[in-house]
Amino acid sequence: MALTQSGSARDGWSSRTAFILAAIGSAVGLGNLVRFPAEAGANGGGAFVLFYIGCVILIGLPVLLSETLIGRHGQAAAPESYRRMAEQSGASTAWEGVASLGVLSAFLILSFYCVLGGWVLYYIGTFFFDIFNTGISGGAFAGVSVEEVEGIFPAMISNGLVTSILTAVFLGITMLFVARGVSGGIEKVAVYLMPAFFALLVGITIYGMFGGAMSQTVEYLFTFEPEKLTGPVMLAAVGQAFFSLSLGVAGMVTYGAYVGRNVNLGVTSGIIATADTSVALLAGLCIFPIVFAAGLAPNGGLGLMFQTLPHAFQEIPGGSLIGFAFFIMVGFAALTSSVALLEVPTAWVIDRFRFTRVVSVIMVAFGATILGVLSALSTGVMSGFHPLGFLPLFEGMGVLDTLDTFTGKLTMPIGALLTSIFVGWIANKRLIDSENGLGGALHLFWRFLVCWLCPIALTAILIVGIFPSLTE
Ligand code: PHE
Repeated sequence: MALTQSGSARDGWSSRTAFILAAIGSAVGLGNLVRFPAEAGANGGGAFVLFYIGCVILIGLPVLLSETLIGRHGQAAAPESYRRMAEQSGASTAWEGVASLGVLSAFLILSFYCVLGGWVLYYIGTFFFDIFNTGISGGAFAGVSVEEVEGIFPAMISNGLVTSILTAVFLGITMLFVARGVSGGIEKVAVYLMPAFFALLVGITIYGMFGGAMSQTVEYLFTFEPEKLTGPVMLAAVGQAFFSLSLGVAGMVTYGAYVGRNVNLGVTSGIIATADTSVALLAGLCIFPIVFAAGLAPNGGLGLMFQTLPHAFQEIPGGSLIGFAFFIMVGFAALTSSVALLEVPTAWVIDRFRFTRVVSVIMVAFGATILGVLSALSTGVMSGFHPLGFLPLFEGMGVLDTLDTFTGKLTMPIGALLTSIFVGWIANKRLIDSENGLGGALHLFWRFLVCWLCPIALTAILIVGIFPSLTE
């Protein structure tokens, strides 16, 4: 079953580099730039970073290879790829349900990811106009009080009209690329934006280095505090590794389906994971020097990017320009991720209902906009609406946080767990081995990880994630 409209040649990446850039584009996003630095600093510095890297190598990487392998073998939308592998292995085709769950997760994540994308658009606009208001010699927001600068964020997220419109705009931009297909749109956005993203990241990091707060940053991010590595923190680290590598949502299965037979998936998985982890670390080395140079204490969560940093830009030379460049960079990273998130359900609709790509994209994006608006309103007028509040895991959460927790703590780890069981135990070994591109000891090690470590670790994570009281 081809992913494109019947009759036309099957669309796919035009080169191995295009695939790698698109997969890195999917992986590198708000997770690396917003969540990782905030969590690493707050949760034990070096110990957290080391544990996180361990999770990436021992759990993330084997699942990443498993997902791309299933996709490349199936050459179809994710559920169909799982079904083909199951059929050829003599297993139940019900395994395609794993991918269907992934498609659902991708859709749900897309809906709230675009809300955050909309917030980034707002900040791009704010800093853009500030370049004209303030000029580029001094700090940003000249003559504006700190309270007002930090107040931009709460004012924005409580304004449902603005955030809803921006959510739709961000989804609209995402749609434009996905509608053009794999080689004509999805690949293009990665090939142009990812190099620009890296240039901006390195440029701003170098700026931060000369700002002089590098030693404080290194101390903050890498001081080894193993006692802070509690059960919930470790779970947060594993969950973060999955989210960051775009795993458990059938995303890498979908991208893997457009990869040619000549590509060594073992090698490309290593490149993708290395790039994603390096960006997470570089994001920390980019953000904190600016925060510390301004004499600020970093706060956690979303406040770090949307409140502390804008305040920091107020204090540093060229603040409005650096702030503008910074949020452009974040926007690029978010866009290449939302493109991946939209492609997963779109590829499924094309495959399942045989609609054209354009019609499929519009349908999915329309649905995501409606759900996205509910998330956008949940930080304002609808903040009192807690859809799953009767369950302890979702207590007191609005739509946005509910979807984030539902996917991050439930569907993504469940999807990854089932994928590792499928690849490790169910699928035909010869089929798997012919696709994975690994040899010798590395191959044995990978098998050990997929068969044993991933299922056991992921089961433990799920149990403790759902019943946090067990670790208290
Ligand atoms: N990996 C992306 C990030 O870190 C998010 C994402 C998850 C993208 C799943 C695609 C699929 O922001």
